[in-house]
Amino acid sequence: MSQTIKAAIVGTGFIGPAHLEALRRIPNVEVVALVELNQALADEKAKQLGIPRAYVFADMLNQSDIDVVHICTPNFLHYSQAKAVLEAKKHVICEKPLAISLEEAEDLVKIAKSSGLVNAVHFNLRYYPMVRQMRVMREKGELGEVYSIMGSYLQDWLFLQTDYNWRLEPDKSGDSRAIADIGSHLLDITEYVTGLKITQVMADFSTVHKTRLKPLKAIETYSGKMLTEADYQEVPINTEDHATVLLRFDNGSKGSITVSQVNAGRKNRLNIEIAGSVSAFEFNSERPNELWIGKREKANEQLMKDPSLVHREVSTLVSFPGGHNEGFPDTSKQLFKEVYAAITTGKQPEHPSYPTFADGWRELLIGERIVESNKKQAWVNI
Ligand SMILES: NC(=O)c1ccc[n+]([C@@H]2O[C@H](COP(=O)([O-])OP(=O)(O)OC[C@H]3O[C@@H](n4cnc5c(N)ncnc54)[C@H](O)[C@@H]3O)[C@@H](O)[C@H]2O)c1
Repeated sequence: MSQTIKAAIVGTGFIGPAHLEALRRIPNVEVVALVELNQALADEKAKQLGIPRAYVFADMLNQSDIDVVHICTPNFLHYSQAKAVLEAKKHVICEKPLAISLEEAEDLVKIAKSSGLVNAVHFNLRYYPMVRQMRVMREKGELGEVYSIMGSYLQDWLFLQTDYNWRLEPDKSGDSRAIADIGSHLLDITEYVTGLKITQVMADFSTVHKTRLKPLKAIETYSGKMLTEADYQEVPINTEDHATVLLRFDNGSKGSITVSQVNAGRKNRLNIEIAGSVSAFEFNSERPNELWIGKREKANEQLMKDPSLVHREVSTLVSFPGGHNEGFPDTSKQLFKEVYAAITTGKQPEHPSYPTFADGWRELLIGERIVESNKKQAWVNI
């Protein structure tokens, strides 16, 4: 492999450009190409984003100088595209959810494993320094035995009946929406921080808008607010706007999560509160530079992100001094730093520090069990 790692990005709607910005902040990585739905759109986007080469997917795969491919397309394309990238012997970083069914995810894990190539899933929210701080504090015994976990992930961008996106269509997004789209991040963080495994789930979903008004022209994610009321078609909705899930963990402790895409004023708020026998943690992604540490015997603490105050194992995720806030775009940079370090070696490490296809598979597994539980209105084993 050449000294500079050459990357291509497939899909340049909302998150594709976030991958691009993050990659531009990493030394020795060059985004040489992008892929879009058709050549005309690819050319236009390449010009806009300052990327030298533009392709449709099959043509990009034939470029032998491209070492790694980022898949940032709607969920239903992840499986076929990730598989094709691995078969073309390129490393792959795929957006979450890894696929739209467990079988697809299982297949991808197998193919990735036998290829030996680097495979990662963009569970970037793990890379807030305070999330890793919680994990490291737990590993050092500063949380104690986990008593309970309470999480939520709330958004409002699908609040109105006129809000519309491909995520509302199961053939593009999968059978679950709020759980797969944002619950997957929260469930990933829950297991990542606590080191526990979810063993059983009991879910209850609601679809607040039973029908939605679909715009008759195509729109990109989060741009719905700019549309006028004209030209909508009423369509039935059969995925969840909101879900509550009770959780049981392998140490006997219990928890719950609530996810919603229709909570006015909550823009993109992941919140997790973990109660342990030594202390408790609360982290809120809308205030990601702070960690609340609850104490019984003395005053509670508010830890502000600062490379000299977090644990040594966390300081690699902090690029700026205390008081210089880091946020969502930094999480991708920190994740890619670890993934590209592996790409430099040419193969997937035995114990990767970053989320892999196996982690993507696990979220699909939990997600499918949650959907099953909601259907049966009963506890389901993972
Ligand atoms: N990790 C995160 O925080 C995060 C945040 C947002 C989205 N995502 C994930 O990223 C993915 C994309 O979401 P988005 O919000 O950017 O969607 P989007 O609709 O804004 O963008 C999707 C892009 O893919 C392109 N595309 C569609 N079909 C294609 C094809 N066959 N070949 C090439 N390009 C094609 C579209 O033209 C568009 O530019 C989803 O899987 C989503 O779950 C992750």
